[in-house]
Amino acid sequence: MIKLINTKENNIVNKSYADHKNMKTWCGLLVFGCIFALSAADGDDDDKNYVVTSRPFPDGFMFGLATAAHQIEGAWNEDGKGEQIWDTWIHEHPNVVFDGSNGDVAVDSYHKYMDDIACLKEVGVQYYRLSISWARILPNGRNSNVNKPGIDYYLNVLRALKDAGIQAMVTLYHWDLPTALQNDGGWTNPEIVDLFGDYARLCYQLFGEYVQMWNTINEPKQICHGGYGIGAYAPGILSPGVDEYKCSKYVLLAHARAWRIYNDEFRSTQNGKITIVIDSDWYEPGTDADKEAAETRMQFIHGLYGHPVYKRDWPDIVKQRIAMRSQLEGYSESRLPAFTEDEIDYVSGTYDFIALNHYTTYMISASDEPAIGTPSLDNDAGVTVWQKDTWQTAAIDWFKYVPWGAGKLLRWLKSTYGDIDIMITENGVSDQNGTLTDDHRIRFYTLYMSHMLDAVYEENVRLTGFTAWTIMDNFEWTLGYIGKSGIYYVDMNDPDRKRVPKKSSTWYANVIKTGCLVDSCT
Ligand SMILES: *[C@@H]1O[C@H](CO)[C@@H](O)[C@H](O)[C@H]1NC(C)=O
Repeated sequence: MIKLINTKENNIVNKSYADHKNMKTWCGLLVFGCIFALSAADGDDDDKNYVVTSRPFPDGFMFGLATAAHQIEGAWNEDGKGEQIWDTWIHEHPNVVFDGSNGDVAVDSYHKYMDDIACLKEVGVQYYRLSISWARILPNGRNSNVNKPGIDYYLNVLRALKDAGIQAMVTLYHWDLPTALQNDGGWTNPEIVDLFGDYARLCYQLFGEYVQMWNTINEPKQICHGGYGIGAYAPGILSPGVDEYKCSKYVLLAHARAWRIYNDEFRSTQNGKITIVIDSDWYEPGTDADKEAAETRMQFIHGLYGHPVYKRDWPDIVKQRIAMRSQLEGYSESRLPAFTEDEIDYVSGTYDFIALNHYTTYMISASDEPAIGTPSLDNDAGVTVWQKDTWQTAAIDWFKYVPWGAGKLLRWLKSTYGDIDIMITENGVSDQNGTLTDDHRIRFYTLYMSHMLDAVYEENVRLTGFTAWTIMDNFEWTLGYIGKSGIYYVDMNDPDRKRVPKKSSTWYANVIKTGCLVDSCT
């Protein structure tokens, strides 16, 4: 079956998704590592008989765990925090969240952050990726009004991490724009570039001595396409192919502003690293004849953000196709706003490493030019996007287990952007049942990491770190609490929100300790 699917932000949950209970998993002889074999009916046909690598993670490789403020903190209006767009959007439209829940309390990390740090210590990660809620420290988004208790909260977290010997990777923006700024147009108002710069500078001043790695902006595609294109994420604006590209431009300029402020004013004293986090699926050509179509799709998804930063300007194919379709639609100029030469220079080179969030893969087939009339990113890209029925599904229908896609994506990053250090800043898998014996999650991580290591050993991809998503089950945006991705379980009916280890947390701890995906590496 071929079905047309959008990407990650398309929150259609298949309530009766297939139960893959006939999956067969076994560990073979040590020397061959673990072999995960699947029957054609219930598994990933393409990975049949794949052998997990027995090569170790390279020296100096770092392992981490990730979260984001709105998904864990709760305390949505406590101690002077301002409202941010996810608070506002969900309170005004509770039906946007699949299970009718919200992030008001979440897993209460605002009060229980020491429990989170205990989990991090138990697993033995070298770093923790967390995000700062802009509205918690600047309630209306502007530096004129600073909220001291919010600052203290992050200082407490960062100091506790330091005491635990865990590095901090801090995301400045993980989707939670102060609502006051959204009321002025949010990411489509050019003023956001200065405001984000001011906020970033304040964060470096306040927290920089505790932060080894900064992420400016997390997943621009979800912010712009989800938030301003298809309206599936806060602020829920439906302006496909128009506002979503304005957002793309100002997100990139804001990222560049924050990177340059750090580079010019803080790097010499704080010695951290800073970059943008781009999420991308892998797009696999259905046949050799579909290779160009798959590359076009890659450029519309990763290249839209990666090319201006790691190279220069929007990708040519993206510029050409949007200009061509805009003209046929009667627009006087391209719906993709042009960068000036100065802006191209300003954005280009604003990275210290490539940060990648990756979850799944799609197949691509070339298609006839979509009818003119409806602007959208999908029509602009102009290819057919589908997934295979045989691929195993996680908690939501778009999310298929396709481990080999991770290896191909890493190789593509190297061949497209050059020989740059890469960190995986998110990878992981959800289920709906929150089972403690989460062998499927162990299998997912093992296979994804193994394909990543193959890219390291076969193609000299400079992969330097892996961040598992996520510590504990948490508020998974419009999926609410049904998309459980934690390596710790949290019972949302338990007022204490106790963190309970799943089998995968012990497994991850062992990988970190041994640097090895099998019993013994060679
Ligand atoms: C929970 O869901 C996962 C993923 O869909 C599945 O592999 C596992 O068998 C389920 N466990 C239980 C106890 O239902």
